[in-house]
Amino acid sequence: MLRQSIRRSAAPLSKITRSAPSTQLRCLSDLSNDQKTTHFGSKTVLESEKEKLVGQVFSSVASKYDIMNDVMSLGVHRLWKDHFIRKLDAGARPGGRPLDFIDVAGGSGDIAFGLLDHAKARFQDDKSTMTVVDINPDMLKEGEKRLLDTKYKNDDRISFLVQNGEVLDQIEDNSKDVYTVSFGIRNFTNIQAGLNTAYRVLKPGGIIGILEFSKVDNTVVDLAYQNWSKFLPVFGQAIANDFDSYQYLVESIQKFPKQEDFKSMIQEAGFYVPEPGYENLTFGVAAIHIGIKL
Ligand SMILES: C[S@@+](CC[C@H](N)C(=O)[O-])C[C@H]1O[C@@H](n2cnc3c(N)ncnc32)[C@H](O)[C@@H]1O
Ligand SMILES: *[C@@H]1O[C@H](CO)[C@@H](O)[C@H](O)[C@H]1NC(C)=O
Ligand SMILES: *[C@@H]1O[C@H](CO)[C@@H](O)[C@H](O)[C@H]1NC(C)=O
Ligand SMILES: *[C@@H]1O[C@H](CO)[C@@H](O)[C@H](O)[C@H]1NC(C)=O
Repeated sequence: MLRQSIRRSAAPLSKITRSAPSTQLRCLSDLSNDQKTTHFGSKTVLESEKEKLVGQVFSSVASKYDIMNDVMSLGVHRLWKDHFIRKLDAGARPGGRPLDFIDVAGGSGDIAFGLLDHAKARFQDDKSTMTVVDINPDMLKEGEKRLLDTKYKNDDRISFLVQNGEVLDQIEDNSKDVYTVSFGIRNFTNIQAGLNTAYRVLKPGGIIGILEFSKVDNTVVDLAYQNWSKFLPVFGQAIANDFDSYQYLVESIQKFPKQEDFKSMIQEAGFYVPEPGYENLTFGVAAIHIGIKL
């Protein structure tokens, strides 16, 4: 699988699907006011509406991440994710043993569902299991909600687990075949601990795949990217009324180790890293790192 040459992202731009931001609260003014009301934050709303609003707050956590990824990458993160999934090319070969996947920081489920779709399409694999882990229960709830819109809704192969990716104390040693983390490890307090834990939970022969924002390798693109980053919090304020999260996004990307250093950290955790160790996407705006537990 790793020797196979890396195919370029072939998905046409038109294939990029945008999930509608659901942060907007519904207009309640046209409802008659003789119905029972309740409190939702500082707003007074109908009791029947409250459940929906609570749901919208959950989904706004996830769509906030979607929007941030969209803004930061100009929508291209969806192509990167497709490429990431195809590059891993994971799935039980026909007649082969099913795999155990774990997708960490995978709240929204997009990588998890994408990996299973790929396994099915490429290898007719409908036996492999998937554990979706996220530290944020709201994010995970959103993933469970999105599951209902997929063909896996009645499938007990997928489980959701609130866990810190640095620890994963509910995941046994040597129990997983494929560990993925997409745009999540940057947020770990202790990244090395996260990588060591990934090594622990993978079986010998297991693969780690990491997709993350990285360092731009082209001077001209980097200038433009730096300029873009400077304005991002301002756009964040305008688009999502949220300066700080976008400021944090930029800072966390700047703080994240550069490709060669991150590769060393993966090796430090014990992984064998096939050369060159990573693939730059879009001039290094993002990168895919791969390691194998021998
Ligand atoms: C930007 S989202 C990425 C979601 C999805 N994997 C994607 O690629 O779009 C980052 C996710 O990382 C999760 N996260 C942050 N720190 C984590 C940790 N230490 N352990 C597990 N999940 C974590 C957050 O809750 C959030 O859901
Ligand atoms: C993780 O993300 C949250 C907000 O999304 C932020 O408040 C926190 O400081 C981040 N932690 C690290 C270590 O980057
Ligand atoms: C990827 O980008 C980094 C810096 O941003 C650069 O040093 C490196 O040569 C590039 N590596 C590959 C494998 O393209
Ligand atoms: C980015 O900003 C610098 C000055 O800070 C300017 O010299 C450069 O031309 C800008 N680049 C682009 C592509 O916008």
